Amino acid sequence: MPFSKKVIAISGSPRSGFSNRNSFTEKILDLFIEGIDPVHLKKYYPHQMKISYCKACMSCWFKTPGQCAIDDDMKTLKFEIENADVIILASPVYVSGFSAPVKTVLDRCFSMFDPLIINDKEGHCRHKRFKPREQIAVLVSTCGFSEKDNFDQISNHFRALCKDFAWEIGGEVLVPAGALGFVRDAYQKKYELVKKAGREFALNGLVSSATMQKIAEEVITPNEYRQLVNPFFNRLMNRSSE
Ligand SMILES: Cc1cc2nc3c(=O)[nH]c(=O)nc-3n(C[C@H](O)[C@H](O)[C@H](O)COP(=O)(O)O)c2cc1C
Repeated sequence: MPFSKKVIAISGSPRSGFSNRNSFTEKILDLFIEGIDPVHLKKYYPHQMKISYCKACMSCWFKTPGQCAIDDDMKTLKFEIENADVIILASPVYVSGFSAPVKTVLDRCFSMFDPLIINDKEGHCRHKRFKPREQIAVLVSTCGFSEKDNFDQISNHFRALCKDFAWEIGGEVLVPAGALGFVRDAYQKKYELVKKAGREFALNGLVSSATMQKIAEEVITPNEYRQLVNPFFNRLMNRSSE
């Protein structure tokens, strides 16, 4: 059955969306999307758009509620985020968190919230969305190091965001040891699992925890990874040994 919900994917690696650069995060994102097979998909590359930082001028709260004072491409993207059924945030781990393009988009979504503070089901302080809508979010991320705990911060941030935006959590597709993406066939099994995750999501609105765990599973020890990657880096730096 076709997946007819409106899907928006935010491809947040600065390497994504260019024909001459390989973004590993985008590869994983595309496999996940292939598994979903959505009828309505819009993919955005925030680093290729004109999107400034939030200036914290608070106009969107107190001067023109719900409307950002900055006139740039975020207008389009905000509209798409507000009107999508499914939001896929794809980001490489950058200094333990989201990439700057994704973080900038998130900050600029501030105008989606009413300043008045409410207490959510757990009693926690939140801002209500001006235009609430039932939405599901999925995190797709890759990182350079081999351990899956390198996703701890981005994953925690994602779960907090889901509370802020009142998004249902649809799953987290996290692939460590990104360099293995350049080793032929090393990640073939993982790629199949990522597509499976997409199919599960299309079917149930949720990726099973068994599939998420297998995708994030470490296939190489930190020591083996270092031994695999460092000679390559040494060559790039014209150094002879580790
Ligand atoms: C600015 C920068 C910061 C990074 N920080 C981390 C990090 O904290 N932890 C990590 O495991 N990898 C880190 N990496 C590696 C990337 O997460 C990894 O190579 C990722 O797969 C890149 O995805 P892409 O090919 O889609 O850009 C960093 C890379 C860059 C460029």
